[in-house]
Amino acid sequence: MLELQDVTKTYVQTRRRVEAVRGISLRVEPGEMLVLLGASGSGKSTLLHLLGGLDRPTTGRVLFRGDDLGTLPDDKLTALRRERIVHVFQFFNLLPTLTAAENAALPLLLGGVPAAEARRRADEALERVALGGRSAHYPEELSGGEQQRVAIARALTVRPEVLLADEPTGNLDSATGNEVLSILREMAGDEGRSVVMVTHDEAAAAIGDRRVRIRDGRIESVA
Ligand SMILES: Nc1ncnc2c1ncn2[C@@H]1O[C@H](COP(=O)(O)OP(=O)(O)OP(=O)(O)O)[C@@H](O)[C@H]1O
Ligand SMILES: [Mg+2]
Repeated sequence: MLELQDVTKTYVQTRRRVEAVRGISLRVEPGEMLVLLGASGSGKSTLLHLLGGLDRPTTGRVLFRGDDLGTLPDDKLTALRRERIVHVFQFFNLLPTLTAAENAALPLLLGGVPAAEARRRADEALERVALGGRSAHYPEELSGGEQQRVAIARALTVRPEVLLADEPTGNLDSATGNEVLSILREMAGDEGRSVVMVTHDEAAAAIGDRRVRIRDGRIESVA
C-alpha cells in the first residue's frame, strides 16, 4: 500500500551534503505495525517524512496505492496528508489555545467537515484513547501522556489509512508509554490501517509486526 523504491535523500547545505537515506526499498503492508529502529541520526525521521509526503526523495520513488508522492501536485499532497497518511509528531504539535476536543477536530474542520460532525468524531476519538473526560481541557492542563493521546486522537478523527508516529513514547514514563503503545497497536489493522512507528526503544519495538533496523541511511536488518 505504501512503498519506498530505492529511495535516497540527500540534504544539501552550503558547505556539505548529508546523505540521510542511501537507497532504501521498503513496503508497508496493509494492516501491519511496522517499527523503524536505529541510532540517533540514522535517518528514521527522514524516512518517516518521505513515507508521509512531508518531504520528497532525492532519487527513487514513494508510492501510495500506485500514486507517486514525489510527483503529486502540492494540493493533492496536502489533502492526502490531511486525510490518508497522517503524522503524529514527537512533540504533539497541539495548539495551546484550543481544547483537547478542538485540537482533535481541527483536521476535519480544515478539511471542510461541518462543525457538529467534526465535534462528534473528535469526541469519539477521544473516547477511544480513554480521554472522554478531558475534552474541555487545554493542553497545558493535560499530562504529557494525555497530550500524546490527544495527538493520536487528532490523527484518528480522519480515519487515516496510514498512521506515522515518530517516537510516540519518547517523552513518556514507561507506564504511560505502554498505554500509548497499546493504543497504536490497536489502531494497526483496525479498518485495514497500517501504523509505522519510529523508536529507539527495543522494548517498544517488540510490539510491532516487523522491525526494520536503520543504520547510516540503509536497512541493516528486517525481523
Ligand atoms: N533538514 C536537514 N538538513 C540537513 N541535514 C539534515 C536535515 N534533517 C536531517 N538531517 C541529517 O540527516 C541525518 C538523519 O537525520 P534524521 O532526523 O532522519 O535521524 P533520526 O534517525 O531520526 O535521528 P533521531 O533518533 O536523533 O531523531 C542526520 O545526520 C541529520 O543531521
Ligand atoms: Mg528522529
